[in-house]
Amino acid sequence: MRQTTTNLLGIDVGTSGTRALIINEVGQVVASSSQEHVPFASPQIGWAEQEPVDWWKATCAAVRQALSHATLGGNDIACIGFSGQMHGAVMLDEQDRVVRPALIWCDVRTAHECRRLTERVGAERLIQLTSNPALPNFTATKLLWVREHEPEQWERVRSLMLPKDYVRLRLTGERATDVADASGTLLLDVAHRRWSREMLAAAEIPEQFLPQLYESTAVCGRVSAEGAAATALNCGTPVVAGAGDQGAGAVGLGIVTPGAVSATIGTSGVVFAATDQPALDPKGRLHTFCHAIPNRWHVMGVTQAAGLSLRWFRDNFADAGENRYERLTAEAEAVSPGAEGLLWTPYLMGERTPHLDPNARAALVGLTASHTRHHVIRAILEGVGFSLRDTLTILEEMRVPVRSIRLGGGGARSPVWQQIQADIYGREVELVEAEEGPAYGAALLAGVAAGLWPSVECASNSAIRVARKVSPRPEVVELIRRQYAAYRRVYPATCNILQPATNAPQPQ
Ligand code: XUL
Repeated sequence: MRQTTTNLLGIDVGTSGTRALIINEVGQVVASSSQEHVPFASPQIGWAEQEPVDWWKATCAAVRQALSHATLGGNDIACIGFSGQMHGAVMLDEQDRVVRPALIWCDVRTAHECRRLTERVGAERLIQLTSNPALPNFTATKLLWVREHEPEQWERVRSLMLPKDYVRLRLTGERATDVADASGTLLLDVAHRRWSREMLAAAEIPEQFLPQLYESTAVCGRVSAEGAAATALNCGTPVVAGAGDQGAGAVGLGIVTPGAVSATIGTSGVVFAATDQPALDPKGRLHTFCHAIPNRWHVMGVTQAAGLSLRWFRDNFADAGENRYERLTAEAEAVSPGAEGLLWTPYLMGERTPHLDPNARAALVGLTASHTRHHVIRAILEGVGFSLRDTLTILEEMRVPVRSIRLGGGGARSPVWQQIQADIYGREVELVEAEEGPAYGAALLAGVAAGLWPSVECASNSAIRVARKVSPRPEVVELIRRQYAAYRRVYPATCNILQPATNAPQPQ
């Protein structure tokens, strides 16, 4: 087969599925394929586990299918980039066998380990070392939990990986990660973009367990013979380090220079701002991570259950059939902004920004007999918007510039949610021509390594175009501002009502 154009492959190992996406040398999508994962297991409240082998199987199927949709062969792919769900703890033994299911990003069982690590290192020193406080989502605390509660499993551990890096290991045989994804482990010295020896010592994690660190556009391996046989890719194809899904997603949305901000509603919800140095929130409510661009960082606030709030409603209360999300958002549109006073706080999986409370619970507040199911759906969409607004409020406090807000994820595809976000943020929001998510950003990172663009900024700026802008409606903004003020009173008023489940000592 003759190579006529340069094609790049981005692989995003997500939570609900893995996506393989092929782009050409001008950044146009040639083909893509998604393969679902087995949904994460939650054997106890606050737990979330997945089988890494499932991610590898999904990757093989997605890559084969994307190549076949594009009628391309492995030799048409010039370079491969990875993206993936962040923070997950993959533990491998001496023979690279998975020791136990991975504890993934939304697993929040480690409140106790967070407290212990913070006491040991000191809260201030922890932030000096890693730019972040200890949160249950971060990988290190998950490792401490396994060591404490499953010592016989921990004894077998010889290497540690983030989710996409496990797939990379299967594809290339290399143990590698990137600084953007590694930022979410709590083991990285984010300011200096290297593993923190002091954190590793405090957490008693041997450095040789960790993968080699790279910048996101660096080639860190090549497809092995086994990897080629499993995926139909060519043996020897270069693979770049890539980035966690937030860094790669930001590259794919054009959030590459300070002032550019995105609001992405996927399973989780993220407001992401690019910065030219590590910007710290003294209260630790935002994450300060390396961006997928050398010498650039970002801050982001995370809503644990953004799209997940609507999916929860859909799975439990919606009718079966086609286009369920479209039908749900159409119901929300039938109700006026503010949902006649009904409020939803989306804390179905605890919350990160702004509360840093793994025990937070969701609440539907203000129900009356005249409210309908339409109001509940609208309240859910607005509650997620308010939660993302919380991060914009903190960015204002931190004086992080916000020159434009670009929408991403499922929330960007729904016209109702687009307008709700513009009204809640009180400013114009931008929609890009074809938002393709983290797999697209990963493919652009591969393109930089393949020499198609001189930098990530050039790749992003030349491939991504704003298609449309949505303005806030002046007559709605004031009403929504008052509703946001009421939303902010819900958590302080409700957080002590329930006995926190995950504060209880974990079974030995
Ligand atoms: C980011 C985060 C999520 C996961 C899952 O901090 O936890 O974006 O990466 O997508």
